[in-house]
Amino acid sequence: MTDLNAVKDKYIAQIGEALDLKALDDIRVTALGKKGEISMMMRGLGQMSPEEKKIMGPALNGLKNDIAALIDARKTSLEDAALDAALASEVMDMSLPVGRTSGTLHPVQQVMEEMAVIFSDMGFAVAEGPDIEDDFHNFTALNFPPGHPARDMHDTFFMVPTRGEEGAERPTGTEKSPDGEKKVLRTHTSPVQIRTMINQKPPIRIIAPGRTYRCDSDQTHTPMFHQVEGLVIDKDIHMGHLKGCLMDFVSAFFETDVDVQFRPHHFPFTEPSAEMDVRYERDGASIKIGSGEKWMEILGCGMVHPNVLRNCGIDPNEYQGFAFGMGVDRLAMLKYGMPDLRDMFAADTRWLSHYGFNPLLQASLVSGLS
Ligand code: PHE
Repeated sequence: MTDLNAVKDKYIAQIGEALDLKALDDIRVTALGKKGEISMMMRGLGQMSPEEKKIMGPALNGLKNDIAALIDARKTSLEDAALDAALASEVMDMSLPVGRTSGTLHPVQQVMEEMAVIFSDMGFAVAEGPDIEDDFHNFTALNFPPGHPARDMHDTFFMVPTRGEEGAERPTGTEKSPDGEKKVLRTHTSPVQIRTMINQKPPIRIIAPGRTYRCDSDQTHTPMFHQVEGLVIDKDIHMGHLKGCLMDFVSAFFETDVDVQFRPHHFPFTEPSAEMDVRYERDGASIKIGSGEKWMEILGCGMVHPNVLRNCGIDPNEYQGFAFGMGVDRLAMLKYGMPDLRDMFAADTRWLSHYGFNPLLQASLVSGLS
């Protein structure tokens, strides 16, 4: 009969002497592995008499557990020692030069900040809304009748409905559209007009920058793009205010006098509606804004439709207003000369370091926008 204490002492000594994890694991295999010494002893229990078994069973189990616990403890202390050694040897030299590791501000972000600077100087606040909108805010409240083809013309991404989603908030007394709960990726930033008018009393003066989505992709369209919406609601607001505001904006944005023209257009949520073009010419591969014989459309705008005001609980006989919406990505391309819209969202670090902006220099009307 092997003396269990002798076996135990032997392994205690070996474990104490194991200097690395590999040596420790060899001991574990020799003692507790399938064919290990202690495992084989346990297998011998089968041949023992019931009396012997009564004593040897618990004794062998105890031995096995003790050795396993000792190996574990040694393993932890070896790992701790290895970590301490690594920490002591891997020194960081804080005096090394940093190189060019800082990131840049994406041109879209830069342009949205420039717009915020220009409009805040005119008294506008910045408002935001969710990217996942409901049908009510994206269409119905904006005077798109249910089933109207314009809903499809927007190449809408519809979300698959899930059960138990919360209903859209809307003022009491307004009609609930049967489509009202359907979720979409917002096709424009105009739903922020609705959210603002429902939650805020006039006078209102906001811009709403953000992401918008349409199922469309080619050299001048990406499925996700950016818009800045504008909304002004007050007493005695007319088209002259709209024109003056937007003319001031483009000249400030392009940092030069810009000639503009307004063309009649149609949007369900404004009446009358217009598109605004800026004068431009091609100068070799680049585009010059402000002079030339050609016109380029840069935004949609109009006087807020009385139905939209009513849908938000505002009396159109008391208040009027104007709204506009423009594509930020295209304005960024025009101002900073990127040739292809799709590069904007390709996350290519070469493109980003070339076209990106210093994040520490804030756009300002006094020191310059960029
Ligand atoms: N929402 C319109 C679009 O995405 C733009 C717009 C906004 C037009 C506000 C008029 C008033 O095309």
